[in-house]
Amino acid sequence: MYLTKEEEKMLEGEFGETARKAMNLLVRLGDIYGAEKMVEIQSAQAAGVSYKTIGDAGLEFLEGFADEGARVRVPCFMNPAGMDLKNHREMNVPEEFAKKQVEIVEAFRKLGVVTASTCTPYLAGNPPLFGSHLAWSESSAVSFANSVAGARTNREGGPSALAAAIIGKTPCYGKHLDENRVAEVLIEVSADLVEPADFGALGHIVGKIAGKKVPAIKGIKKATINQLKMLGAAAAASGAVALYHVEGITPEAIKTMPVKEGFQTHTVEQKDLKNAFEELTTTKEDVDLIAIGCPHCSITELGSISEMLDGKRLEKEMWVCTSIAMKALSDRMGYTKKIEESGAKLVCDTCMVVSPIHEIGFRKTATNSGKAANYLPSFNGQKVEFDSVKNLIERYSK
Ligand code: F3S
Repeated sequence: MYLTKEEEKMLEGEFGETARKAMNLLVRLGDIYGAEKMVEIQSAQAAGVSYKTIGDAGLEFLEGFADEGARVRVPCFMNPAGMDLKNHREMNVPEEFAKKQVEIVEAFRKLGVVTASTCTPYLAGNPPLFGSHLAWSESSAVSFANSVAGARTNREGGPSALAAAIIGKTPCYGKHLDENRVAEVLIEVSADLVEPADFGALGHIVGKIAGKKVPAIKGIKKATINQLKMLGAAAAASGAVALYHVEGITPEAIKTMPVKEGFQTHTVEQKDLKNAFEELTTTKEDVDLIAIGCPHCSITELGSISEMLDGKRLEKEMWVCTSIAMKALSDRMGYTKKIEESGAKLVCDTCMVVSPIHEIGFRKTATNSGKAANYLPSFNGQKVEFDSVKNLIERYSK
Protein backbone atom coordinates (compact mmCIF):
# COMPACT_ATOMS: atom_id res chain seq x y z
CA MET A 1 0.00 0.00 0.00
CA TYR A 2 1.29 3.47 -0.88
CA LEU A 3 1.99 5.59 2.22
CA THR A 4 2.62 9.33 2.33
CA LYS A 5 5.73 10.60 4.10
CA GLU A 6 3.65 11.46 7.17
CA GLU A 7 2.02 8.01 7.21
CA GLU A 8 5.47 6.38 6.97
CA LYS A 9 6.67 8.43 9.92
CA MET A 10 3.63 7.35 11.92
CA LEU A 11 4.40 3.74 11.11
CA GLU A 12 8.00 4.22 12.22
CA GLY A 13 6.91 5.63 15.59
CA GLU A 14 7.84 9.30 15.07
CA PHE A 15 4.34 10.35 16.18
CA GLY A 16 4.44 8.21 19.32
CA GLU A 17 3.78 4.63 20.26
CA THR A 18 -0.03 4.78 20.04
CA ALA A 19 0.02 6.26 16.53
CA ARG A 20 2.56 3.57 15.54
CA LYS A 21 0.31 0.78 16.82
CA ALA A 22 -2.80 2.28 15.20
CA MET A 23 -1.03 2.81 11.87
CA ASN A 24 0.42 -0.69 11.98
CA LEU A 25 -3.07 -2.17 12.45
CA LEU A 26 -4.48 -0.12 9.54
CA VAL A 27 -1.60 -0.97 7.19
CA ARG A 28 -1.97 -4.68 7.97
CA LEU A 29 -5.69 -4.44 7.29
CA GLY A 30 -5.05 -2.56 4.05
CA ASP A 31 -2.54 -5.18 2.91
CA ILE A 32 -4.98 -8.02 3.63
CA TYR A 33 -7.73 -6.37 1.57
CA GLY A 34 -5.48 -5.03 -1.21
CA ALA A 35 -5.91 -1.32 -0.46
CA GLU A 36 -3.71 0.90 -2.61
CA LYS A 37 -3.68 3.88 -0.24
CA MET A 38 -5.18 5.42 2.87
CA VAL A 39 -8.11 7.80 2.72
CA GLU A 40 -9.06 10.62 5.12
CA ILE A 41 -12.22 10.00 7.13
CA GLN A 42 -14.94 12.43 8.22
CA SER A 43 -15.75 10.46 11.36
CA ALA A 44 -15.49 7.13 13.15
CA GLN A 45 -17.84 5.02 15.21
CA ALA A 46 -16.41 2.51 17.65
CA ALA A 47 -18.09 -0.78 18.52
CA GLY A 48 -17.03 -3.09 21.33
CA VAL A 49 -18.44 -0.94 24.14
CA SER A 50 -20.61 -3.32 26.14
CA TYR A 51 -18.80 -5.16 28.93
CA LYS A 52 -20.94 -8.14 27.91
CA THR A 53 -19.19 -8.18 24.51
CA ILE A 54 -15.58 -7.16 25.27
CA GLY A 55 -15.07 -8.36 28.87
CA ASP A 56 -11.91 -7.65 30.88
CA ALA A 57 -9.56 -8.12 27.91
CA GLY A 58 -11.32 -5.35 25.98
CA LEU A 59 -11.33 -3.06 29.01
CA GLU A 60 -7.55 -3.55 29.47
CA PHE A 61 -6.93 -2.82 25.76
CA LEU A 62 -8.89 0.45 25.96
CA GLU A 63 -7.33 1.55 29.24
CA GLY A 64 -3.86 0.79 27.81
CA PHE A 65 -4.55 3.05 24.81
CA ALA A 66 -6.01 5.80 27.00
CA ASP A 67 -3.10 5.68 29.49
CA GLU A 68 -0.59 6.07 26.64
CA GLY A 69 -2.22 9.44 25.98
CA ALA A 70 -3.94 8.45 22.71
CA ARG A 71 -6.60 10.87 21.40
CA VAL A 72 -8.91 10.62 18.42
CA ARG A 73 -8.25 13.08 15.56
CA VAL A 74 -11.73 13.02 14.03
CA PRO A 75 -15.20 12.94 15.62
CA CYS A 76 -15.71 9.46 16.99
CA PHE A 77 -18.93 8.26 18.61
CA MET A 78 -19.37 4.98 20.42
CA ASN A 79 -21.87 2.14 20.13
CA PRO A 80 -24.37 1.22 22.86
CA ALA A 81 -23.02 0.07 26.20
CA GLY A 82 -24.36 -2.83 28.26
CA MET A 83 -26.64 -0.66 30.39
CA ASP A 84 -28.28 2.73 30.83
CA LEU A 85 -25.30 4.67 32.14
CA LYS A 86 -27.47 6.68 34.53
CA ASN A 87 -30.37 4.39 35.41
CA HIS A 88 -28.75 0.94 35.39
CA ARG A 89 -30.13 0.08 38.83
CA GLU A 90 -33.68 0.41 37.48
CA MET A 91 -32.69 -2.13 34.82
CA ASN A 92 -31.46 -4.50 37.57
CA VAL A 93 -28.00 -4.75 35.99
CA PRO A 94 -25.58 -6.65 38.33
CA GLU A 95 -23.33 -4.23 40.29
CA GLU A 96 -20.03 -5.81 39.17
CA PHE A 97 -21.12 -5.52 35.52
CA ALA A 98 -22.08 -1.87 36.07
CA LYS A 99 -18.71 -1.06 37.65
CA LYS A 100 -16.78 -2.52 34.68
CA GLN A 101 -19.11 -0.81 32.19
CA VAL A 102 -18.44 2.59 33.78
CA GLU A 103 -14.67 1.96 33.50
CA ILE A 104 -15.03 1.15 29.78
CA VAL A 105 -16.95 4.36 29.10
CA GLU A 106 -14.39 6.35 31.08
CA ALA A 107 -11.57 4.90 28.93
CA PHE A 108 -13.44 5.95 25.77
CA ARG A 109 -13.99 9.44 27.22
CA LYS A 110 -10.25 9.79 27.93
CA LEU A 111 -9.55 8.88 24.30
CA GLY A 112 -11.75 11.80 23.23
CA VAL A 113 -14.59 9.57 21.99
CA VAL A 114 -18.05 11.16 22.31
CA THR A 115 -19.74 8.87 24.80
CA ALA A 116 -23.18 9.24 23.23
CA SER A 117 -23.43 5.44 23.30
CA THR A 118 -25.80 4.91 20.40
CA CYS A 119 -26.16 2.87 17.22
CA THR A 120 -27.82 5.88 15.55
CA PRO A 121 -24.98 8.45 15.68
CA TYR A 122 -26.45 9.94 12.49
CA LEU A 123 -29.44 11.11 14.58
CA ALA A 124 -27.46 12.15 17.62
CA GLY A 125 -24.88 14.65 16.39
CA ASN A 126 -22.68 12.82 13.85
CA PRO A 127 -24.45 12.95 10.46
CA PRO A 128 -22.33 11.67 7.53
CA LEU A 129 -21.92 13.71 4.35
CA PHE A 130 -22.73 12.25 0.93
CA GLY A 131 -19.54 10.80 -0.59
CA SER A 132 -17.48 11.20 2.60
CA HIS A 133 -15.34 8.36 3.92
CA LEU A 134 -16.00 6.97 7.39
CA ALA A 135 -14.75 4.20 9.66
CA TRP A 136 -17.94 3.02 11.36
CA SER A 137 -18.47 -0.29 13.12
CA GLU A 138 -22.08 -0.94 13.99
CA SER A 139 -23.71 -2.89 11.18
CA SER A 140 -27.02 -0.96 11.12
CA ALA A 141 -25.20 2.38 11.27
CA VAL A 142 -22.84 1.24 8.48
CA SER A 143 -25.84 0.27 6.38
CA PHE A 144 -27.56 3.62 7.02
CA ALA A 145 -24.41 5.66 6.29
CA ASN A 146 -23.70 3.83 3.01
CA SER A 147 -27.25 3.44 1.75
CA VAL A 148 -29.30 6.39 3.00
CA ALA A 149 -26.60 9.05 3.38
CA GLY A 150 -24.42 7.87 0.48
CA ALA A 151 -21.27 8.03 2.63
CA ARG A 152 -18.61 5.31 2.33
CA THR A 153 -17.61 2.90 5.05
CA ASN A 154 -16.69 -0.72 5.50
CA ARG A 155 -17.97 -2.49 8.57
CA GLU A 156 -15.04 -1.93 10.89
CA GLY A 157 -14.19 -3.95 13.97
CA GLY A 158 -13.91 -2.03 17.26
CA PRO A 159 -10.05 -1.84 17.19
CA SER A 160 -9.81 -0.81 13.51
CA ALA A 161 -12.45 1.94 13.94
CA LEU A 162 -10.56 3.27 16.96
CA ALA A 163 -7.23 3.09 15.10
CA ALA A 164 -8.78 4.98 12.17
CA ALA A 165 -10.12 7.63 14.58
CA ILE A 166 -6.64 8.05 16.09
CA ILE A 167 -4.96 8.39 12.67
CA GLY A 168 -7.87 10.18 10.95
CA LYS A 169 -7.63 7.79 7.99
CA THR A 170 -8.62 4.30 6.91
CA PRO A 171 -7.35 1.94 4.17
CA CYS A 172 -9.19 2.58 0.90
CA TYR A 173 -10.84 -0.71 -0.12
CA GLY A 174 -14.29 -2.33 -0.15
CA LYS A 175 -17.21 0.10 0.10
CA HIS A 176 -14.85 3.09 -0.25
CA LEU A 177 -14.50 2.25 -3.97
CA ASP A 178 -17.08 2.93 -6.71
CA GLU A 179 -16.87 -0.57 -8.17
CA ASN A 180 -18.00 -2.17 -4.90
CA ARG A 181 -21.09 0.03 -4.58
CA VAL A 182 -22.87 -1.29 -7.66
CA ALA A 183 -26.06 -3.32 -7.20
CA GLU A 184 -25.56 -7.06 -7.72
CA VAL A 185 -29.01 -8.47 -7.08
CA LEU A 186 -32.48 -7.04 -7.80
CA ILE A 187 -35.39 -7.43 -5.37
CA GLU A 188 -38.87 -6.44 -6.57
CA VAL A 189 -41.31 -5.76 -3.73
CA SER A 190 -45.07 -6.02 -4.20
CA ALA A 191 -45.91 -6.51 -0.50
CA ASP A 192 -47.62 -3.65 1.37
CA LEU A 193 -45.30 -1.96 3.83
CA VAL A 194 -47.23 -0.11 6.52
CA GLU A 195 -45.67 -0.47 9.97
CA PRO A 196 -41.93 -0.05 10.74
CA ALA A 197 -41.97 -3.77 11.61
CA ASP A 198 -42.94 -4.49 7.97
CA PHE A 199 -39.68 -2.84 6.91
CA GLY A 200 -37.84 -4.99 9.47
CA ALA A 201 -39.46 -8.11 8.01
CA LEU A 202 -38.55 -6.96 4.49
CA GLY A 203 -34.97 -6.32 5.65
CA HIS A 204 -34.86 -9.85 7.05
CA ILE A 205 -35.84 -11.22 3.63
CA VAL A 206 -33.46 -8.89 1.75
CA GLY A 207 -30.52 -9.99 3.91
CA LYS A 208 -31.29 -13.66 3.32
CA ILE A 209 -31.47 -13.13 -0.44
CA ALA A 210 -28.48 -10.80 -0.79
CA GLY A 211 -26.04 -12.26 1.76
CA LYS A 212 -22.93 -10.10 1.25
CA LYS A 213 -24.06 -8.71 -2.10
CA VAL A 214 -25.40 -5.21 -2.76
CA PRO A 215 -29.17 -5.42 -3.36
CA ALA A 216 -31.21 -2.97 -5.40
CA ILE A 217 -34.83 -2.82 -4.22
CA LYS A 218 -37.69 -1.79 -6.49
CA GLY A 219 -41.35 -1.26 -5.60
CA ILE A 220 -41.08 0.74 -2.36
CA LYS A 221 -43.13 3.83 -3.15
CA LYS A 222 -42.08 5.88 -0.14
CA ALA A 223 -40.10 5.34 3.02
CA THR A 224 -39.11 7.41 6.04
CA ILE A 225 -35.72 7.56 7.73
CA ASN A 226 -37.19 5.43 10.54
CA GLN A 227 -38.37 2.75 8.13
CA LEU A 228 -35.06 2.67 6.24
CA LYS A 229 -33.09 2.23 9.45
CA MET A 230 -35.30 -0.78 10.33
CA LEU A 231 -34.82 -2.25 6.86
CA GLY A 232 -31.04 -1.82 6.81
CA ALA A 233 -30.56 -3.13 10.36
CA ALA A 234 -32.48 -6.33 9.63
CA ALA A 235 -30.73 -6.90 6.28
CA ALA A 236 -27.33 -6.49 7.96
CA ALA A 237 -28.37 -9.06 10.59
CA SER A 238 -29.89 -11.81 8.43
CA GLY A 239 -27.25 -11.30 5.72
CA ALA A 240 -24.20 -9.06 5.78
CA VAL A 241 -25.68 -6.23 3.74
CA ALA A 242 -23.55 -3.10 4.23
CA LEU A 243 -25.13 -1.18 1.34
CA TYR A 244 -28.51 -1.33 -0.37
CA HIS A 245 -30.21 0.85 -2.95
CA VAL A 246 -33.92 1.68 -3.07
CA GLU A 247 -35.06 2.91 -6.46
CA GLY A 248 -36.23 6.52 -6.32
CA ILE A 249 -35.33 6.91 -2.64
CA THR A 250 -31.66 6.34 -1.76
CA PRO A 251 -29.02 8.55 -3.36
CA GLU A 252 -27.04 5.92 -5.31
CA ALA A 253 -30.04 3.85 -6.38
CA ILE A 254 -30.04 1.72 -9.50
CA LYS A 255 -31.22 4.53 -11.78
CA THR A 256 -27.91 6.25 -11.31
CA MET A 257 -25.71 3.19 -10.92
CA PRO A 258 -24.44 0.76 -13.52
CA VAL A 259 -25.57 -2.80 -13.03
CA LYS A 260 -23.19 -5.74 -12.71
CA GLU A 261 -23.46 -8.64 -15.14
CA GLY A 262 -25.54 -11.71 -14.32
CA PHE A 263 -28.14 -9.78 -12.35
CA GLN A 264 -30.46 -12.10 -10.39
CA THR A 265 -34.04 -10.98 -9.72
CA HIS A 266 -36.15 -11.98 -6.71
CA THR A 267 -39.64 -10.97 -5.68
CA VAL A 268 -41.13 -10.25 -2.25
CA GLU A 269 -44.89 -10.71 -2.09
CA GLN A 270 -47.38 -10.31 0.77
CA LYS A 271 -47.09 -13.99 1.67
CA ASP A 272 -43.29 -13.67 1.97
CA LEU A 273 -43.68 -10.83 4.44
CA LYS A 274 -46.15 -12.92 6.48
CA ASN A 275 -43.68 -15.84 6.45
CA ALA A 276 -40.90 -13.55 7.72
CA PHE A 277 -43.09 -12.50 10.68
CA GLU A 278 -43.71 -16.18 11.45
CA GLU A 279 -40.06 -17.13 11.06
CA LEU A 280 -38.92 -14.40 13.45
CA THR A 281 -41.53 -15.37 16.06
CA THR A 282 -40.42 -18.29 18.22
CA THR A 283 -43.02 -18.19 20.98
CA LYS A 284 -46.78 -17.77 21.15
CA GLU A 285 -46.69 -17.47 24.95
CA ASP A 286 -46.87 -14.16 26.79
CA VAL A 287 -43.45 -12.50 26.97
CA ASP A 288 -41.56 -11.08 30.01
CA LEU A 289 -40.22 -8.03 28.20
CA ILE A 290 -41.32 -5.82 25.32
CA ALA A 291 -38.22 -4.18 23.83
CA ILE A 292 -38.53 -1.43 21.22
CA GLY A 293 -35.77 0.74 19.76
CA CYS A 294 -33.47 -1.43 17.65
CA PRO A 295 -31.89 0.62 16.10
CA HIS A 296 -32.27 3.32 18.75
CA CYS A 297 -35.52 5.30 18.45
CA SER A 298 -35.57 8.65 16.71
CA ILE A 299 -37.52 11.56 18.21
CA THR A 300 -40.41 10.96 15.79
CA GLU A 301 -40.60 7.30 16.80
CA LEU A 302 -40.64 8.33 20.47
CA GLY A 303 -43.45 10.74 19.66
CA SER A 304 -45.60 8.10 18.02
CA ILE A 305 -44.88 5.49 20.74
CA SER A 306 -45.88 8.04 23.40
CA GLU A 307 -49.17 8.62 21.56
CA MET A 308 -49.84 4.87 21.35
CA LEU A 309 -49.13 4.50 25.10
CA ASP A 310 -51.12 7.56 26.15
CA GLY A 311 -53.75 6.55 28.72
CA LYS A 312 -52.69 2.86 28.66
CA ARG A 313 -51.25 0.74 31.46
CA LEU A 314 -48.76 -1.96 30.49
CA GLU A 315 -49.04 -5.41 32.02
CA LYS A 316 -45.44 -6.36 31.11
CA GLU A 317 -42.07 -4.66 31.44
CA MET A 318 -41.41 -2.50 28.39
CA TRP A 319 -38.14 -0.86 27.35
CA VAL A 320 -38.01 1.87 24.72
CA CYS A 321 -34.31 2.15 23.79
CA THR A 322 -32.81 5.40 22.55
CA SER A 323 -29.84 7.75 22.81
CA ILE A 324 -29.45 10.39 25.52
CA ALA A 325 -29.73 13.04 22.78
CA MET A 326 -33.21 11.81 21.78
CA LYS A 327 -34.15 11.37 25.46
CA ALA A 328 -33.38 15.06 26.11
CA LEU A 329 -35.72 16.06 23.28
CA SER A 330 -38.31 13.54 24.42
CA ASP A 331 -38.27 15.04 27.93
CA ARG A 332 -38.81 18.51 26.49
CA MET A 333 -41.66 17.34 24.23
CA GLY A 334 -43.48 15.58 27.07
CA TYR A 335 -43.08 12.17 25.36
CA THR A 336 -41.04 10.69 28.23
CA LYS A 337 -43.79 11.54 30.72
CA LYS A 338 -46.45 9.78 28.65
CA ILE A 339 -44.21 6.75 28.06
CA GLU A 340 -43.35 6.42 31.75
CA GLU A 341 -46.94 6.95 32.92
CA SER A 342 -47.85 3.77 31.03
CA GLY A 343 -45.27 1.85 33.07
CA ALA A 344 -42.71 1.65 30.23
CA LYS A 345 -39.06 2.68 30.72
CA LEU A 346 -37.17 4.97 28.39
CA VAL A 347 -33.80 3.21 28.38
CA CYS A 348 -30.73 5.14 27.15
CA ASP A 349 -27.22 4.11 26.02
CA THR A 350 -28.01 0.41 25.58
CA CYS A 351 -30.41 -2.07 24.03
CA MET A 352 -32.06 -5.47 24.42
CA VAL A 353 -29.22 -7.22 22.56
CA VAL A 354 -26.06 -5.78 24.17
CA SER A 355 -27.36 -5.60 27.74
CA PRO A 356 -27.36 -8.75 29.92
CA ILE A 357 -31.13 -9.36 29.74
CA HIS A 358 -30.78 -13.10 30.34
CA GLU A 359 -28.81 -12.45 33.56
CA ILE A 360 -31.44 -9.88 34.56
CA GLY A 361 -34.01 -12.70 34.32
CA PHE A 362 -35.87 -12.25 31.01
CA ARG A 363 -36.52 -15.34 28.88
CA LYS A 364 -39.17 -14.22 26.37
CA THR A 365 -38.97 -10.89 24.59
CA ALA A 366 -41.29 -9.15 22.15
CA THR A 367 -39.89 -6.67 19.65
CA ASN A 368 -40.80 -4.80 16.47
CA SER A 369 -37.22 -5.02 15.17
CA GLY A 370 -36.18 -7.56 12.54
CA LYS A 371 -32.58 -7.25 13.72
CA ALA A 372 -33.38 -7.75 17.41
CA ALA A 373 -35.72 -10.66 16.62
CA ASN A 374 -32.89 -12.30 14.71
CA TYR A 375 -30.22 -11.76 17.40
CA LEU A 376 -32.15 -12.23 20.66
CA PRO A 377 -32.25 -16.06 20.56
CA SER A 378 -28.51 -16.52 19.98
CA PHE A 379 -27.12 -13.49 21.85
CA ASN A 380 -29.43 -13.55 24.84
CA GLY A 381 -31.17 -16.94 24.93
CA GLN A 382 -34.61 -15.39 24.36
CA LYS A 383 -37.77 -16.75 22.80
CA VAL A 384 -39.14 -14.01 20.59
CA GLU A 385 -42.45 -12.50 19.57
CA PHE A 386 -42.07 -10.27 16.49
CA ASP A 387 -44.87 -7.80 15.79
CA SER A 388 -45.64 -4.11 15.29
CA VAL A 389 -45.49 -1.75 18.28
CA LYS A 390 -49.20 -1.08 17.82
CA ASN A 391 -50.11 -4.77 18.13
CA LEU A 392 -47.74 -5.34 21.05
CA ILE A 393 -49.17 -2.41 23.02
CA GLU A 394 -52.71 -3.62 22.30
CA ARG A 395 -51.83 -7.14 23.47
CA TYR A 396 -49.94 -6.23 26.63
CA SER A 397 -51.82 -3.22 28.02
CA LYS A 398 -55.20 -2.29 29.42
FE1 F3S B 1 -28.61 -0.87 18.03
FE2 F3S B 1 -28.66 -2.81 19.76
FE3 F3S B 1 -30.11 -2.95 17.62
S1 F3S B 1 -26.88 -1.73 19.09
S2 F3S B 1 -29.04 -1.81 16.07
S3 F3S B 1 -30.33 -1.43 19.25
S4 F3S B 1 -28.93 -4.59 18.46
